[in-house]
Amino acid sequence: MKETLLKIKQEAFSMLEKDDLNIEEVRIKYLGKKGELTSVLRMMGQLSAEERPIMGQLANQVRNEIEEKIAQLTEVQKAKELEKSLVSERLDVTAPGNVRKIGKLHPLTQVQRKMEDIFIGMGFSIAEGPEVEYDYYNFQALNIPQNHPARDTQDTFYITENILLRSQTSPVQARVMEKTQPPIRIISPGRVYRSDEVDGSHSPLFHQLEGLVVDKGITMGNLRGMLETFAKTMFGEKTRIRFRPHHFPFTEPSAEVDVSCFVCGGKGCRLCKGEGWIEILGAGMVHPNVLRTCGIDPEVYSGFAFGMGIERITMCQYGIDDMRLLYENNIKFLEQF
Ligand code: PHE
Repeated sequence: MKETLLKIKQEAFSMLEKDDLNIEEVRIKYLGKKGELTSVLRMMGQLSAEERPIMGQLANQVRNEIEEKIAQLTEVQKAKELEKSLVSERLDVTAPGNVRKIGKLHPLTQVQRKMEDIFIGMGFSIAEGPEVEYDYYNFQALNIPQNHPARDTQDTFYITENILLRSQTSPVQARVMEKTQPPIRIISPGRVYRSDEVDGSHSPLFHQLEGLVVDKGITMGNLRGMLETFAKTMFGEKTRIRFRPHHFPFTEPSAEVDVSCFVCGGKGCRLCKGEGWIEILGAGMVHPNVLRTCGIDPEVYSGFAFGMGIERITMCQYGIDDMRLLYENNIKFLEQF
């Protein structure tokens, strides 16, 4: 038995010295429940009483030596593995990160925000109104009674006879005046709808920005000065504006307002179609009927209003010649702005 034990020890140790060492395999082979040392120990019972303690002691010694060696090698192996992972998993904190692509605002939103900023800078605040609107606010309160011919140019989508998709942002004027006594100084950007066929310059859904100022002693001079400041900030310091007489039922007098072409400066080019001027908005002094209908005394107060298309201003600013491009959601197109 002594030889067997010494042989086991020798074998185990030589196995533990191999290059392709698998420690767990050695442990199971010699020390495991069905291992070689264990089966030798099972045979102890067959020994004589004198031999038993001697062999027992030797067996324990062999076991301890193998266990110790295994523990030692396990430590060494662990240290090697740690060393290896420190090298292979090292992070280069100076390596450039992965650039994550983030989206950006739609050009219409960018232009709308720029316009809002300009007016907020002039003391305006933002008012909102519903896109699903009463005929009353969209037309009647704005001095456009049933069967008025001005309704033809703003045909829209009707939900019932009295409820429609607003065809302009002007109903917000009426809603604000109804609730607030002057001084009033608001802008109202938002979606509007008209039953127009889609083409390069028309869409059944588009955006406007409305403005309204009501106070004592407001004149057309105030309107002009304010619009000039807006145009210069929006399109550049050299921009001039001009008023052309026009008609809107809810303003009197009314005007269409042009800005000098910011590409050619007024000489005439492709953008302004040789005109030197680009029409950007409608405006005028709030009609006394509208003030009265909304509970404001036209003998005490006067005001001006204006409304412009956000698509139109966006197209001018970026030289976009087809309005459909703004709605097609083509990333290649939108990324440019
Ligand atoms: N609401 C008018 C339109 O859509 C524009 C406008 C607004 C004109 C305010 C005058 C005053 O054409």
